[in-house]
Amino acid sequence: MKKALKVASLVSCSVVAGAFLVIATYQPAQRPASTASIEATPAQKARGRYLVDHVVACTVCHSQRDDGRFAGPVVGTPGAGAPCAGEELGFPGTVCFPNITPDPTVGIGAWSDGEILRAMREGVDRQGRGLFPGMPYHAYRGLSDADAEAIVVHLRSLEPSPNEPAGETDIDFPVNFFVKLIPEPLDGPVAGPDDGDDVARGRYLSEMAGCSFCHTPVDDRKQPLLGREMAGGHVHLATFGSVVAPNLTPHATGLTMTRAAFVSLFKSFGAPEAAAKVDPQDNTVMPWLRYAGMTEDDLGSIFAYLSSVPPIDHVVERRPRRAEVADASP
Ligand code: HEC
Ligand code: HEC
Repeated sequence: MKKALKVASLVSCSVVAGAFLVIATYQPAQRPASTASIEATPAQKARGRYLVDHVVACTVCHSQRDDGRFAGPVVGTPGAGAPCAGEELGFPGTVCFPNITPDPTVGIGAWSDGEILRAMREGVDRQGRGLFPGMPYHAYRGLSDADAEAIVVHLRSLEPSPNEPAGETDIDFPVNFFVKLIPEPLDGPVAGPDDGDDVARGRYLSEMAGCSFCHTPVDDRKQPLLGREMAGGHVHLATFGSVVAPNLTPHATGLTMTRAAFVSLFKSFGAPEAAAKVDPQDNTVMPWLRYAGMTEDDLGSIFAYLSSVPPIDHVVERRPRRAEVADASP
């Protein structure tokens, strides 16, 4: 009997050890990065700059920002990386925002075009490590080949910064294991939306720009709530406090402005004084300063898309402060 117990406990120990080994060595799904290099054309450069500066806004996350000013304008070299963040911002561990300028040692200057494309849309780094989905590769998966390549072309033209990484991403167990299950290789070319289809263009832009990511409510595992697209209520933590994303569905409790008012609201943040010093309680994570540079056509298409989602009756209590959020969580 004693022997049987011993054997049983040995077996269960080795099962546990084996499970840990599998978890530690599990490789995310991936395919080799493409070896093709991108021929940069002037049109692509311009498109890439527009997307990076005003739509997908890679440099919103990958740069130091001044949170004492409205909507946190970038300080220093765009793309040079930002300090790591942790539980104070709701992350399950430490998340670092790497330098994505073309510096060959601390940036991505030594990465091939294919490796950058793969990180951006398929979620694995150069070594094949699965990226934490705070890097929105699950959304960028939908980036058309032409747009994804244009972004790479623009990243290569950023000023190289010797800014050392602030640290390494280190996600707590068991979330670190689940992160490995998220990357997913693309299995063919990705086409963009049909240019003549206003709503499809708007949906594409909204997904690439993160509107859906921030304005769709999430469950306690940060998964978007099905059927509640753009309904608001998603609480965003920032260094200056917390802000709640409003309901953008076409309902009386949601977006009630006209297309023209919507476009001019965004354009109003293009003035230099938009980035003025601000009290923490009046600051926002909504990237107004970036989107102000979107074309009126693109903003209009986003409006057309928002007008097409199912209207949802959802009064969003605006702007509770961080202390209130902490009190409300169990
Ligand atoms: C919402 C914030 C956010 C946005 C927007 C964002 N990233 Fe990231 N990115 C991250 C984080 C966080 C990591 C680190 C993930 C990790 O270490 O697991 C990362 C990692 C990367 C890496 C891997 C770099 C390395 O050294 O391992 C690349 C390349 C990258 N991002 C490129 C981009 C590009 C290109 C865009 C725009 C198309 C972009 N990112 C937009 C947050 C963001
Ligand atoms: C990083 C998260 C984030 C992203 C990305 C984001 N928003 Fe927001 N948005 C917010 C938050 C939080 C607010 C509320 C605070 C404020 O008004 O500044 C807001 C406010 C707004 C408002 C103001 C609504 C009102 O009635 O005052 C509009 C309109 C809006 N967002 C549209 C968009 C669109 C369109 C996109 C994509 C192009 C987008 N947002 C992307 C977080 C985000």
